Amino acid sequence: MQRQPFADFQNTAVRPLRILFVTPEVEPFVKVGGLADMTGALPKELAALGHDVRIVCPAYSSVKDHGPRTARHEPLGVDVGPQTHWARTWETFLPDTGVAVYLLEHDGFFGRAEVYAGPWGSHGDNDLRYAFLCRAALALCQQLNWIPDVVHGHDWTTGLLPVYLNTTLQHTPLGRIASIFTVHNLEHQGYADRRVLDFARLPLAEFRNDSVESYGAVNMMKAGLYHSTKLTTVSPTYAQEIQTPAGGWGLDSVLRHRARDLVGIVNGIDTDAWNPAVDRFLPAHYGASNLAGKAHCKAALQHRLNLTVDSHVAVFGVVARFVSQKGLDLLADVLPDIVQQMHVQFAILGAGEPVLEQFFRSAASQYAGRVGVHVGYDNELAHLIQAGSDCFVMPSRAEPCGLTQMYAMRYGTLPVARATGGLIDTIAQYIGGTTQGDGFLFTQATGRALHDTVGWATATYYDKPRDFARLQRNAMAQDFSWKRSAAQYIDVYHSAIEQRTGAPVH
Ligand code: ADP
Ligand code: GLC
Repeated sequence: MQRQPFADFQNTAVRPLRILFVTPEVEPFVKVGGLADMTGALPKELAALGHDVRIVCPAYSSVKDHGPRTARHEPLGVDVGPQTHWARTWETFLPDTGVAVYLLEHDGFFGRAEVYAGPWGSHGDNDLRYAFLCRAALALCQQLNWIPDVVHGHDWTTGLLPVYLNTTLQHTPLGRIASIFTVHNLEHQGYADRRVLDFARLPLAEFRNDSVESYGAVNMMKAGLYHSTKLTTVSPTYAQEIQTPAGGWGLDSVLRHRARDLVGIVNGIDTDAWNPAVDRFLPAHYGASNLAGKAHCKAALQHRLNLTVDSHVAVFGVVARFVSQKGLDLLADVLPDIVQQMHVQFAILGAGEPVLEQFFRSAASQYAGRVGVHVGYDNELAHLIQAGSDCFVMPSRAEPCGLTQMYAMRYGTLPVARATGGLIDTIAQYIGGTTQGDGFLFTQATGRALHDTVGWATATYYDKPRDFARLQRNAMAQDFSWKRSAAQYIDVYHSAIEQRTGAPVH
């Protein structure tokens, strides 16, 4: 499997841009998955390049305090529904940056802990909540008298942003704003009753197939795909996959229609937060030239998850949401065989589908000392698993980008992953008998293929320790920082602005 080259970019930045991120989650305030990592890290990098970047995110009741926040005096009037809704805005910053984060407080829409859903369901009013977010973000620009050059939305929750800019707000000063829409995961699309258009005060005429309608409902993802000036997704391979019926979740024809405006840009990772040389969650530190600290981390991990403390055994880590996308049911299918046939341990962290939670919990008691499981969300343990494991398992059915395989590689932990989406673009297949590669990829989404690939990694670990060590060095030498990807986003912003305003950025 060949790594895809990153697209060439020619960055001739002329003036700083005003960029507004609108997002349902942002690290370190509120995180469900990798979307939050991205919206917390990319703005930092853009700001370091001199751009004026600001972020709007809901103030759910679970939003964490990170430093002082100040309430803005003026309440924010948001024109949705029959009467104006009033929100309170808190201003704070991404830690150690000048990136302003506006947290939108509204009891009715956001005064609850969960982002998208309660325990394993969906908030019935998600369409209204996120229509509100979109309109409120634009109202805030008006109130601040700060008109961005680009608004950058993320997944279906922000799909109505460009619809406003193309319709009701088109002939206001906001009408010049270019819109960028990033697909992090096409699977969740935000289907809603057409009444959401009434609520959002958007023209009912948009309820048609070449706009926001899909299968008789409003599809908020489609709205974003249809109306945004430029589209991005989080890896070049995923950009191709979503244009096919197999990977398009019913929207592949829309994506083919917009193919010229769509680009795949691999996410970076926060290389400060994920750095084995200084990671504050680890009992010992290490780098590519000396992995001694990694052995300490392995012992600490084994201890933490009640695994037999043994420096020689191959440890396979998992950190993931337990959902079908991640393919952990495939691991569940073959875990008993693997544990019975191979001298390995598993360190598993995650939460999600109750069936999988239950399965892994009972595997931990059935294979005590060999399988260690923590069900829940635990960032500290996520760091320890990345550092203390030898391999990292990702049998994803689909993986738009995936961040955890990049964390793993930076920690000298070799991915055992399905060749899909961003995993193809970031992991180089080990070619036996050579010193090339930094992971073990398989193609079929089956338990058997996963089983055999875990076997291959295990055999390499025990029988070819030099090759294994070489692969670790290869993995740790990869540059997963945001630098390159941030420059690609700036190119996208520039061409979107030119397309929207008819004039290049001066
Ligand atoms: P996705 O966004 O599809 O879940 P990614 O690989 O892009 O997948 O990002 C997942 C992020 O969430 C990573 O930062 C990972 O460490 C984190 N994560 C997932 N599950 C857990 C968990 N149970 N505890 C701590 N962190 C988790
Ligand atoms: C989504 C995808 C994941 C990606 C993340 C950040 O959650 O499932 O693959 O890394 O978004 O873009």
